Amino acid sequence: MTIKLLNLNSNQSELRERFDCLTKLPWISASETPDDQPFLLFDHNHLAIADVDWPKIKPVSVDFLSNAASHRRLHGGGAGQAVAKAIGLNKNRSLRVLDATAGLGRDSFVMASLGAQVLMYERHPVVFQLLNDGLMRFKANRSEELADLSLRLEQGIFFDSSEAEAFAPQVIYLDPMFPSREKSAKVKKDMALFHDLVGIDADADKLLEPAIALAEFRVVVKRPKQAPYLAGKVPTTSLVGKSSRFDLYTKKSIVS
Ligand SMILES: C[S@@+](CC[C@H](N)C(=O)[O-])C[C@H]1O[C@@H](n2cnc3c(N)ncnc32)[C@H](O)[C@@H]1O
Repeated sequence: MTIKLLNLNSNQSELRERFDCLTKLPWISASETPDDQPFLLFDHNHLAIADVDWPKIKPVSVDFLSNAASHRRLHGGGAGQAVAKAIGLNKNRSLRVLDATAGLGRDSFVMASLGAQVLMYERHPVVFQLLNDGLMRFKANRSEELADLSLRLEQGIFFDSSEAEAFAPQVIYLDPMFPSREKSAKVKKDMALFHDLVGIDADADKLLEPAIALAEFRVVVKRPKQAPYLAGKVPTTSLVGKSSRFDLYTKKSIVS
């Protein structure tokens, strides 16, 4: 895989350093112009992905300090929202949660802002760079209110990494890409670009068994409401929402 990174229009030294670091990666090449493939660019200081085939979609980046992320943090339902209940944060706010399919880090950010210690894994090299960029900007610019938020990122797959075992996760969260039958019409616009970039996680079933082996309390799998169970394995229980479902594979009750 090779992806283009648009040349910088700025001489800002911190941005120049980030640009130079990225162009050292063998699969990134600096370029003046995009072609008809997804490409990377610095959009208002954020590393972002864009695609000339999707001219109406804003470049996609990770911004934990955005209004949308703050709104979800402050008004998203706290520990009562579905993902928090599925993880068990309504019972214990400081759980160690391994998010094995971090994506753009949205769910991880919600969990961490509720008090969880979160370790994220992302294997897609472009998504990893977007997330890494968002996390670095967040750590450099966060307010005191967010100083204790615990969010770390590793590149790769959790069961190939010794970090995951050392972290001793109490809960493992899985949200692999699922082929959407309705296709792009129903996928939110910014997510359509992300879906095009990542595709389908056809090997997602392989995540469940090692996750169950490693998690102390439970494994939580997010699925579209009508989707079959991951790896065909019936969960202990499911929390069903409007369009998605959380399947819980319970090993032990969560203690506070
Ligand atoms: C649907 S997205 C996750 C969205 C995420 N929950 C969020 O809130 O932004 C799934 C992500 O998991 C990643 N992924 C899938 N299988 C993986 C694996 N075995 N190890 C690491 N990352 C994986 C994909 O590259 C993709 O970025």
